[in-house]
Amino acid sequence: MNILLLGSGAREHALAYKLTQSPLCTRLFIAPGNAGTERQGDNVQVSPLDFAAIRSLVLRERIELVVCGPEEPLVKGIADFFAGDPALAHVAFAGPSRQAALLEGSKAFAKGFMKKYGIPTAPYRIYDSAHLVEALDYVKQHPLPVVIKADGLAAGKGVFVCETEQEAKEQVMALLRDKKLGVAGTTVVIEQFLQGIEMSVFILTDGQRYVLLPEAKDYKRIGEGNTGPNTGGMGALSPVPFANAALMQKIEHRILQPTLKGLQQEEITYRGFLYVGLMIVGDDPFVVEYNCRLGDPETQVVVPRIRTDLVNLLVQAATDELQIENLDILPYKAVGIVLASKGYPGSYETGRVIENLSLTSECLIFHAGTRRRTDGQIETAGGRVLTVTAFDRSLAKARQQALRNAELIRFEGKYFRRDIGDDVGIQYH
Ligand code: AMP
Ligand code: GLY
Repeated sequence: MNILLLGSGAREHALAYKLTQSPLCTRLFIAPGNAGTERQGDNVQVSPLDFAAIRSLVLRERIELVVCGPEEPLVKGIADFFAGDPALAHVAFAGPSRQAALLEGSKAFAKGFMKKYGIPTAPYRIYDSAHLVEALDYVKQHPLPVVIKADGLAAGKGVFVCETEQEAKEQVMALLRDKKLGVAGTTVVIEQFLQGIEMSVFILTDGQRYVLLPEAKDYKRIGEGNTGPNTGGMGALSPVPFANAALMQKIEHRILQPTLKGLQQEEITYRGFLYVGLMIVGDDPFVVEYNCRLGDPETQVVVPRIRTDLVNLLVQAATDELQIENLDILPYKAVGIVLASKGYPGSYETGRVIENLSLTSECLIFHAGTRRRTDGQIETAGGRVLTVTAFDRSLAKARQQALRNAELIRFEGKYFRRDIGDDVGIQYH
């Protein structure tokens, strides 16, 4: 079948890599893709937010499966757009509806949902712009640190972990009074800071049944030792060494199963990937956030570990017939290191030639902010440029391989973290 993949990051490149391994995939189109995905299929210069153009592309190229990488089209209702158009009725769309995607699109909705269904998460209060005074009062009596979150999508820039009362008040005012993030921040969640270690879990569901994907750990801070500003993610590993059977069982029983049950009780049909960001406090998992898609860079370490046919899985999930119960996982562990442009997540330069890609070995290179020049060379075109993923039976060796290749690739201003996995006991030396 012909498949359309929406998005342009390294997550989508990893998905493209896996989708094209399936004997069910005849042709893959990626909209808009990057200089890496063009090796897997046909890049089409269409924005994932231009639903009308996507519709034309799907009809023109006889697409039978659409896979959506990023959250924004989902939160804006692309699944509903497909479901509501008779000309697209035959197309399997892998991704949740607008209402289901509210689990990511509205943090206030997600918190209310978790409270209603007894899913462990940090205690919180919700305030809108009409209740600025009450919000500031709440901050005043809240223990520190306190976490302030914009309700809506903010591309990773809507969460503030505040160490002082002053800082917390400033953030609340910036959002509720000054509308710093526009409508995304006119409602805020103020919640307790959870001290623990984060991990990411993923399921694919048809709304009733689900399969658990390999878990992963993401490294969000720009600096080594988990310091400095948050980024989209600077590296990841899978599996997570501390995620033993007992913890995974708690995660399924206390979080994943009640989440699906709650959605069913709300009569919200959730089809597609669900990514749950967790904080493990002591031995207990708490939900930090839901996402209606896969993670980036987690996908780059999770998806290549799956042996099961991803096209078959996605078609089953999209058509309410998920029959596969357990995934077949390759006997390798994976470490992914993100190569970024100097300055990211602040301002950075682009247009730097990327060299030595052909010298890399024993790893997968997933492109993100890259483009091909007219002279055929590949140059940087974004903050996160590439993810280098390496595999081994030992995480330490996988990281060694990933680091060796990360060193080898060259572009001006290349930056990457060398400590992915240090905090979970991977020893490099
Ligand atoms: P989110 O976008 O909700 O995942 O938040 C971004 C990051 O902020 C998370 O990955 C955590 O590192 C941090 N964070 C969010 N909520 C909390 C919390 N309640 N306690 C501690 N850290 C948090
Ligand atoms: N890895 C963080 C995210 O995809 O949101």
